[in-house]
Amino acid sequence: MLLSFFRNNPYLQFARKYRGFVALGISCLVVTNSLEVSIPWLIGRALDHLTQNDPFEEIARITIIIVVVTLTLSLFRFLWRIFWARFHHAVADDLRNDLFFKYTDLSPSFFQKHKIGRLMSLITNDVNAFRIGIGPGFLILADAIFQSILIIPIMISISPSWTWKTLILMPVTPFLIRVVMKKLNSAYSQRQESFSEVSGVAQEIVSGVRVIKSFAQEHQQTRHFNQYSKTYENNCNRVGLWDAFFSPAMELPMALGCVILLLVGIPDVLAGAVTIGAFFSFYQYVQRMMWPMTALGISMSHLQEGLASHRRIQDVLQERSEVEDHGALELDHFESLEVKNLSFTYADKNAPALQNISFSLKKGQSLGIVGPTGSGKTTLIEMLCRLHPAPEGSILINGHSIEKIKLSSLRNLVQVVPQDAFLFSQSVSENLAFSKLSWEMEEIVEATEHVHLHDEILEWPDQYKSIVGERGVNLSGGQKQRMTLARALVKDSSIAILDDTLSAVDAKTEENILNILKNQLQNKTAIVIAHKLASVAWCDQILVLNQGHLEWAGDHLELLSKSATYNQLFEMQSSGGRV
Ligand SMILES: Nc1ncnc2c1ncn2[C@@H]1O[C@H](COP(=O)(O)OP(=O)(O)O)[C@@H](O)[C@H]1O
Ligand SMILES: [Mg+2]
Repeated sequence: MLLSFFRNNPYLQFARKYRGFVALGISCLVVTNSLEVSIPWLIGRALDHLTQNDPFEEIARITIIIVVVTLTLSLFRFLWRIFWARFHHAVADDLRNDLFFKYTDLSPSFFQKHKIGRLMSLITNDVNAFRIGIGPGFLILADAIFQSILIIPIMISISPSWTWKTLILMPVTPFLIRVVMKKLNSAYSQRQESFSEVSGVAQEIVSGVRVIKSFAQEHQQTRHFNQYSKTYENNCNRVGLWDAFFSPAMELPMALGCVILLLVGIPDVLAGAVTIGAFFSFYQYVQRMMWPMTALGISMSHLQEGLASHRRIQDVLQERSEVEDHGALELDHFESLEVKNLSFTYADKNAPALQNISFSLKKGQSLGIVGPTGSGKTTLIEMLCRLHPAPEGSILINGHSIEKIKLSSLRNLVQVVPQDAFLFSQSVSENLAFSKLSWEMEEIVEATEHVHLHDEILEWPDQYKSIVGERGVNLSGGQKQRMTLARALVKDSSIAILDDTLSAVDAKTEENILNILKNQLQNKTAIVIAHKLASVAWCDQILVLNQGHLEWAGDHLELLSKSATYNQLFEMQSSGGRV
């Protein structure tokens, strides 16, 4: 059991990985501790010389030694802090990167099961708690152990009976400290939580101030805010209360130890059994033992919290993606896509999102997909990109079942313009060149011209360098869609998939974009999902989906004569003047 503790303990695993920093840090700590412990002993020696004739030469010598010891000690204390900081920040960096990679690797279903806030907290708070455990926690423990190992024998050498009498109460300190730390930590997290709530409510009220005024809700909203503010105040007071308990818990056993020393020590000094200098040194050692005892309590608390956080991190790191990247096949071009009896049900749903879908598509052809909301259009294209697991042999590219194809190779073949236009808070050009490691400005401008965005970008304050999002330019729905479209055009791949991409642009822009796309897509294979039939009527083949079923497949004219759903959509949109 002990062996498995050492083998599986995450602290020791990381300590082994970064043994260089650990060895240097601990060595410097041992030197620091030894030098620190020698100072009371040196002062005691100096005091004893006071009672001798002509003490000044010896006292001057000891003073110089104390100065040298203090300077050396400061240097080593500086060094261990540096080495130790390198160690625990490297560990945190490893965990953060592992988690981040895991987040990018896991399938969308994982993110449905776990709240974003929880996942964010894992990569920030839990990584930090583990860092504090392995950094300060581990170090404080080592410090406590070394100091005790160094101080207690010196105390025993002065007087074994003083030693046990003064230290007998000290082991209470770690327990008191543990209790106070537990309470303090829970008070800290409650304070943090209520602080987030107060800022959240304040932010909402400030941004919604117009609505509040127009409904004359000022007083009500102020009362609402006051409640949150009061909770925050109470939580701050709770932190203050437990914080105030900290010093007594730390100092009380030590102070009692000092009183005991006075009671048992002074008679010995008076009787001449122990020198006054030794008594002074001992007194200092009793005081110094306060820290190792407190440190034990603090480090136990840090180490335990760190382990709990590590378990939570491991739970996520051990999650397996629903879609595993075991395929070895690399495709450099696209020839054909074949979908055979494809069915799929989301894990949390009973009804299938797709049922027995079959169709095929050849290089250079275009495919339109129409159908009411929720009919499975987005699910279908997500399956083509292998975001969800497809039954083996139900999707074939160039004749190969897609699980045999390396994921990166598969996803390089396709460029998806998703339904919800997601952009990063980076510059316009960085967003557009998202798929590229290196890029030329011309290709980006060419893409934005195709989607009629170039002239608008030129009007923004920093043009292509403008930052998208909160403190940069705020884009309209249509601009966002055109940006994501341009981003896909910059990525040079064989299959272009537009998922209801043109819903937020006006009819004229849509027509222009479609015309350009048709030219652009001549050498490519296009899959266009649209609500408006006009956006797909030009496609070689159109699929009509309804409740996960493929109702009909054919070209525009065929569908007009065969598909009731298609006809309904056509009628509706014709009367609205859309087709
Ligand atoms: N992530 C998901 N988890 C569970 N069910 C989903 C998810 N996404 C879509 N669905 C369900 O699958 C069906 C098809 O959805 P979707 O493919 O988004 O349709 P469409 O794109 O045609 O509007 C709907 O019933 C929808 O509720
Ligand atoms: Mg959709």
